Amino acid sequence: MAKAASRFFCKECGYETGKWLGQCPSCHAWNCFVEEPVQVPSSSKRAASFSANALRGQRSRPVRIDEIELLREDRLPTGFSELDRVLGGGIVVGSLLLLGGDPGIGKSTLLLEIVRNLCADYGKRALYVSGEESLKQIKLRAQRIAEIRGELRFLCETNIENIVEAIQEEKPDMVVIDSIQTMFTELVSAAPGSVSQVRESAAALLRTAKEQGVAVFLVGHVTKDGSVAGPKILEHMVDAVLYFEGESSGSLRILHGQKNRFGSTNEIAVFEMSAEGLREVRNPSELLLSGRPTGSTGSVVTCGMEGTRPLLIEIQGLAVPTSFGLPRRTANGIDYNRMNLLLAIIERRLGLELSKYDAYLNIAGGLRISEPSTDLAVILALISSCRNVSVPEDVMIFGEVGLAGEVRAVSNAEQRIEEAVRLGFRRIVMPAYHAKRSPGLEKQGITLLPVRNIREALAVLKRQDA
Ligand code: TYD
Ligand code: MG
Repeated sequence: MAKAASRFFCKECGYETGKWLGQCPSCHAWNCFVEEPVQVPSSSKRAASFSANALRGQRSRPVRIDEIELLREDRLPTGFSELDRVLGGGIVVGSLLLLGGDPGIGKSTLLLEIVRNLCADYGKRALYVSGEESLKQIKLRAQRIAEIRGELRFLCETNIENIVEAIQEEKPDMVVIDSIQTMFTELVSAAPGSVSQVRESAAALLRTAKEQGVAVFLVGHVTKDGSVAGPKILEHMVDAVLYFEGESSGSLRILHGQKNRFGSTNEIAVFEMSAEGLREVRNPSELLLSGRPTGSTGSVVTCGMEGTRPLLIEIQGLAVPTSFGLPRRTANGIDYNRMNLLLAIIERRLGLELSKYDAYLNIAGGLRISEPSTDLAVILALISSCRNVSVPEDVMIFGEVGLAGEVRAVSNAEQRIEEAVRLGFRRIVMPAYHAKRSPGLEKQGITLLPVRNIREALAVLKRQDA
C-alpha cells in the first residue's frame, strides 16, 4: 500500500501540486489551494478516467456522422412537462446531470418525485442513493408525496465502489446521488466533500453512467456565493447543470439550466412547494400576478421572456422623499446598476428630480429579471410612485429604453402581447416599432399604444387615465 501523503488542489479548477501556491498556474485564481491527503498519486488514474476511450473500457475507432445511431427512446420523461422542456425533452440516457441549490429548497423532494414518476408511470427502474438521510427519513418524505409503485429502490450508502456495484446489479435506468459532497471513493483518502474526493467520485459515476447507459443525477451543495461547492471541474464533467432557486420563505421554486449539452439554457420551470411535495406551475403568469394590489401607485405589469416562454411580472416601484442628503436605492430582482441608469434617464430626459427621492424597486414573486424589455415598466413604476398616480390595472407595458429616453424594439413582441391578452389585459403600451396593428386584436377590444420615447409613454398613460 502506498504511503499516505498530502497534495494541494486548486478549489477552482482541480489543479494538483506538491506544494502550496498563492496563485493557480492553470486558472490564475488566487488563494485557492487546499491541502488534502492522497494515498496513491492520482495523476495516472485521472488521466485514464478522463479519456473517452477508458470510459467505454475499450478502444474506439473514428466513425462518420451517418454511422452514429440515434435511438428513439434516448430520453427518459420526468413526469413534469416543464422540467422536460428545461432538459430539452427529457433526461438523456447515459447522461450525468448536476442539480445545485440552497439547503432546504427542495432538491431531494424534486428528485424523489422524478424517480417516482419514472417508475410508477413509465415502468422504468430507478435507484435513489442517499448519503444524507436515513431510509426512515426518506420514507417519511415519500409518504408526503405520491404513492410509490414500481421498480424504485432506495440505498443509504456513501461508498462509491459499493454504489457502482449496486448499479451494476440493479441495472436501473436512472440513479440519484444525494449528494455528491457526502460520497467518497476508496481511491482517495481525503475527506468527503474535498476537491479530490468530489472529483474522483464524480469521475467514477461518469464512467458508470456511460458504461451502463444509466442517467445519473447528482445533487450538489452550493457555496455562499451560489455556485456548486467543490471543484469547478465538476461542472465541466457533467452534461447539464441545473439550479433550483427560490426564496425559502415563499413557495415558488424556479429551476433553470446553467449548462445543458442537450438543450437550451434559457428555459425555466416553475414549481410550487405544497404540503404534498412539489407541483409544477403550468401557468406562472397567473401565479405571479395573483395578489396584485388594485389601484395602488408604483405597480406596473410587464412581460419578460424566460427562454421561449413569456412571463407576466409585476414591477413595484416606491419613491419617497429622502430624509438624508444621500438618496437610498434598493433593487430586488433587477440589476442595481440598470436601475441607477434608468433613474438617471428619468432625471435627465423628463426633468424629474429623483435625486431628492429614495427609490426602491421590487419584482413580486422573488423572480430575477435581466432583460432590458422591462425598462419602460421600471421607469413608469418609479414615476407612478413619485407622482402618486396609479397606472390603470388593465395596462401592460414593455419596451427597452435607451439613454436618450427613446423606447426601443424588443424581441418576441407578439408573444408578449398574446400572453397579456390571454390574462385579460386590454391596453398595451409598447415600442412604436411593433405598431403593425393586427385587426384581430382590435376586434377583441384590445388597444395597442405604441410609443417612441418615455415622454410619449407618460402622455399616453395620462390620456388613458382621463
Ligand atoms: P428538501 O427536498 O429536503 O430540500 P434539499 O434537499 O434541497 O435540502 O426540502 C425540504 C423542504 O421542503 C423542507 O423545508 C420541507 C419542505 N417540504 C414541503 O413543504 N412539502 C413536502 O411535501 C416536502 C417533501 C417538503
Ligand atoms: Mg436534500
